Amino acid sequence: MSEEIKKFKVTIDGQTTEVEPGTTILNAARQIGGKSVPPAMCYYSSLETSGGRCRTCLVEVSAGSEKDPRPMPKLMASCRTAVMDGMEVKNLTSPKTQEARHAVTEFLLINHPLDCPICDQAGECHLQDLAYENGEEQTRTDFERRTFEPEDIGPYIKLNMNRCILCARCVLAANQLTEEREHGILFRGEHAEISTYLNKALDNDFIGNVIDVCPVGALTDKTSRFMSRVWFTKPMDAHCNCDKCSGKAVVWLKGEEVIRVTARKDQYDEVQEYICNTCRFERKDAKEWIIEGPRHIDRHSVISLNHYQKPVETLRMLDNPEAKEISKKDEI
Ligand code: SF4
Ligand code: FES
Repeated sequence: MSEEIKKFKVTIDGQTTEVEPGTTILNAARQIGGKSVPPAMCYYSSLETSGGRCRTCLVEVSAGSEKDPRPMPKLMASCRTAVMDGMEVKNLTSPKTQEARHAVTEFLLINHPLDCPICDQAGECHLQDLAYENGEEQTRTDFERRTFEPEDIGPYIKLNMNRCILCARCVLAANQLTEEREHGILFRGEHAEISTYLNKALDNDFIGNVIDVCPVGALTDKTSRFMSRVWFTKPMDAHCNCDKCSGKAVVWLKGEEVIRVTARKDQYDEVQEYICNTCRFERKDAKEWIIEGPRHIDRHSVISLNHYQKPVETLRMLDNPEAKEISKKDEI
């Protein structure tokens, strides 16, 4: 008879949950849900070895475990730190964490052009959300920013390296979803950049997924760039018969026209099922899709507004005086 695995109790912002040993603080927080979930710009649950690069998910561990309740001396990357039984974590309730998140945001924005008004990712960009929540109104630096010319990487993808935050999700996606290693991070430190070897085209059937995993507008879809602001489009769940992938996608309609096709994503904006290039880039005729109905966008963002659907997230205060702005899924 198999022995039952003892679960670990972890308390985050005053809310306690039980998780399997080996679970990270970030995933334990996601189990609790709501605003206590730290932002994550580089972690991606379906990509092995992701995380640990951006530091947006830092949290304060105020008690290491039941056996050793001493606090951890430094803020910890929640995507890379496993919970211990009896651990206590502070995210929203920690001034140190909030201060560090402001600093990390400032750092991520040092070279990032604030070109949201012309960037296709605006409205669904994690860095934009992070900047609104934790950014400063003014920069404290005036040195020359690193700049790159936009580059075509393959027939369908445009790389705008100025916007890249070097999270490495696209590199991991390309390595893990395709059979060949097609691109990577060249050079080091301030000179690091995403590139293909001698601009070799990315031409694998699943390479389009790098666009979906990119948290900013560094990788964009050449077949739909500049066609519409995302909040003027209607996302619809749709499927088609595809022999390469499940054919389950989201088609973004402008009027009756399909202007963009993406994979379906969860509330943390992570792809649920990767789709092939044919579905993403070549099926732009509405007749090729069976429309299932409006897509519910879980993320709190401008794209989840005005889509004629019942909101499922509401903010509430917990009884715990330390926890603030915890959201709860309503039943619908
Ligand atoms: S291009 Fe996008 S996904 Fe790739 S490292 Fe840069 S920010 Fe991350
Ligand atoms: S999400 Fe944890 S370090 Fe980037």
